[in-house]
Amino acid sequence: MIQLENIEKSYGNHKVLRGINLEIQRGEFISIMGSSGCGKSTLLNLIGGMDIPEQGRVIIDGENISAYTDENLTLFRRIKVGFIFQFFNLLPNITVFENISMPLLLNGAENNEKVRAYIQDMGLGGKENTYPYQLSGGEQQRVAIARALIHDPEIVLADEPTGSLDSETGTMIMDIIQRLTSETRKTVVLVTHESHIAAYAQRIVRMKDGMIFA
Ligand SMILES: Nc1ncnc2c1ncn2[C@@H]1O[C@H](COP(=O)(O)OP(=O)(O)OP(=O)(O)O)[C@@H](O)[C@H]1O
Ligand SMILES: [Mg+2]
Repeated sequence: MIQLENIEKSYGNHKVLRGINLEIQRGEFISIMGSSGCGKSTLLNLIGGMDIPEQGRVIIDGENISAYTDENLTLFRRIKVGFIFQFFNLLPNITVFENISMPLLLNGAENNEKVRAYIQDMGLGGKENTYPYQLSGGEQQRVAIARALIHDPEIVLADEPTGSLDSETGTMIMDIIQRLTSETRKTVVLVTHESHIAAYAQRIVRMKDGMIFA
C-alpha cells in the first residue's frame, strides 16, 4: 500500500531524512519510534502528501505521489488520508459537529447522519454545538479522530496522538484508534516516543538521525 524508496529531505542545509526505505502493507498498523528531531513528523508528512521529498519516491497504491501536481496532492490528501495530531488541530471557530463534518464537505459528500453516528460512537452526544475550547483534551482528540475517519480514508496517520494527554486518557484514545481502524482495516502509521503506545501496532520501526535501523 505504501512504499518509500530512498527518501531524502532537507531543511536548508540540514538533511533530515537520509535515505529512508520502508514498505507498509494494506491494513497494517505500524509505529514509528525515535528521539525528538530524528525526522518522524517529516516522514509522516511525506506519506500524507503534505510535503514532497527531494530525492526518492513515495508510492501509494502503485502511484508515485511525489510526482503529483499540487492539485492532485490536495485531492489525494482529502480522499485517502486521515490525520490525527498531538495538539488536535481542530478549527477553533466552528462547532464539534462542523469540525467532524469538514472532510465530507470538502469532498462534496455531506452526510449529517454519519456525523451524528460518529458523535454518538465517540461519546460526544450533547457536545455537537460546543466549540473546541469548551472541551477537555481527550474530548478534543475524540473529535479529531472522528474528523480523521469520517470520510473513510484508506490511510490514517497519527503524530503523537497521546502526546498531550494524561496516560489514562491516552490509553482511551489508543483503544478508540485501534478499534475503529481495525474494524475497517485501515492502514495506520503512528508516530510516538512512548513504547507502551507503540506496542498497539503490529510492527515497530525505529528511526535515528533520519534513517530507519530496525
Ligand atoms: N519546516 C521546517 N523548517 C526547518 N526545519 C525543520 C522544519 N520541520 C522540521 N525541521 C527540522 O527537522 C528535524 C526533524 O524534525 P521532525 O519534526 O521531523 O522531528 P520529529 O522526529 O518529529 O521530532 P519530535 O519527536 O520532537 O516531534 C528537526 O531538526 C527540525 O528542527
Ligand atoms: Mg514530531
